[in-house]
Amino acid sequence: MRTVLVGVTGCVAIYKACEVVRGLQKAGVRVKVVMTEHATEFIKPAMFRALTREPVAVGLFDDAPGDPIHHISLAKEADLFLIAPCTANVMGKIAHGIADDLLTTTAMATSAPLLIAPAMNVNMYESTANQENMRALRERGVAFVDSGSGYLACGDMGKGRLADVDEIVSRALQMLGARRDLVGKRVLITTGPTVEPIDPVRFISNPSSGKTGFALAEAAQERGAEVQLVCGPVQLDNPAGVEVMRVKTALQMYDAVDARFDDTDIAIFAAAVSDFRPAKPADYKLKKGSADAQLQILELVENPDILASMGARKRPDQVVVGFAAETEDVEENARKKLVSKHADLIIGNLAGNGRAFGTEENEIVLVDADGIAHAGPTSKRDLADIILDAALKV
Ligand code: CTP
Repeated sequence: MRTVLVGVTGCVAIYKACEVVRGLQKAGVRVKVVMTEHATEFIKPAMFRALTREPVAVGLFDDAPGDPIHHISLAKEADLFLIAPCTANVMGKIAHGIADDLLTTTAMATSAPLLIAPAMNVNMYESTANQENMRALRERGVAFVDSGSGYLACGDMGKGRLADVDEIVSRALQMLGARRDLVGKRVLITTGPTVEPIDPVRFISNPSSGKTGFALAEAAQERGAEVQLVCGPVQLDNPAGVEVMRVKTALQMYDAVDARFDDTDIAIFAAAVSDFRPAKPADYKLKKGSADAQLQILELVENPDILASMGARKRPDQVVVGFAAETEDVEENARKKLVSKHADLIIGNLAGNGRAFGTEENEIVLVDADGIAHAGPTSKRDLADIILDAALKV
């Protein structure tokens, strides 16, 4: 049986930690709890002892009988260390290697993956110190179930609320059961829109949010891949342990991919690349009423097709996956793109009119040389695993 060590810290959202523990147990997971001293001001260890039927550890020196180095044995027992709720203080300590109680010492001693669900006041959440700590932890590979926005216990509105219990439990289970079938593989992903300048203050673009590519990057990283993500301008934080290159134009995206493609095992082209760019972007703001020819007719030139170029040059041992976001005839267009772009797999979906772009869920068709499969509607994170499974099979 797999063991999740649940770290509980001192904040009002602690009452939800009881439900997190129950949710994990219902999924057949063994749960042990470690609390900070501050957490015990809100809930007594007896509560978690009753829920888990396991001893609950608090102090660094109140060792379990026959277990003089408790933080090390706890650290070794854990297949996953989930801290929920996690205060700004505890995150700050872990980010800076401060280990002055049982919970933070165990966090430093464990080699199990660490998953943090933060909860705090909005101003604390947004403070530079907290943001820098979260960024540092993410860069080290710590995973987050990020706070949601809403009405906070202190009366303020904003970000800082503990994520939903279901979301925390399902993320923990996902990490616990994470397949490691991409260890040793290098995965390159494009995502987001590109922006093509008309002048310094105007551009051509599209509403792609980049969420699909970020979900793919997160899933591939969790399955053990070395992941590089080339993305256009999007409002998303770097996924844990993923190398992210942020670009603006299609030409910049092409260069970033061109430089990395040959060292890649699986390349997934999820970006909504602008097919055209203004031929002669002005280096000053175009004024209405002026005689600028661009204001009458905007001359466009075609951007390079990144997927088609890489598909044409791929080695037999490389897998190339493309997308086809269509407003109609998804299957037929996906099949055509499989051939015209020399791809091994095309993921087709309906887009526009509120579908696909910016949404949390999607419904897809997977087209390869052998035929067609359908998936969804489901979350972009679940679809990411389905797409990676299909890419491994071609
Ligand atoms: N793509 C790309 N570079 C481009 C255009 C598209 O890499 N310049 C990739 C996308 O990332 C996606 C696939 O090609 O994986 C299909 O993109 P899509 O916009 O649906 O197709 P287009 O090639 O633009 O074809 P059409 O306009 O005929 O639908």
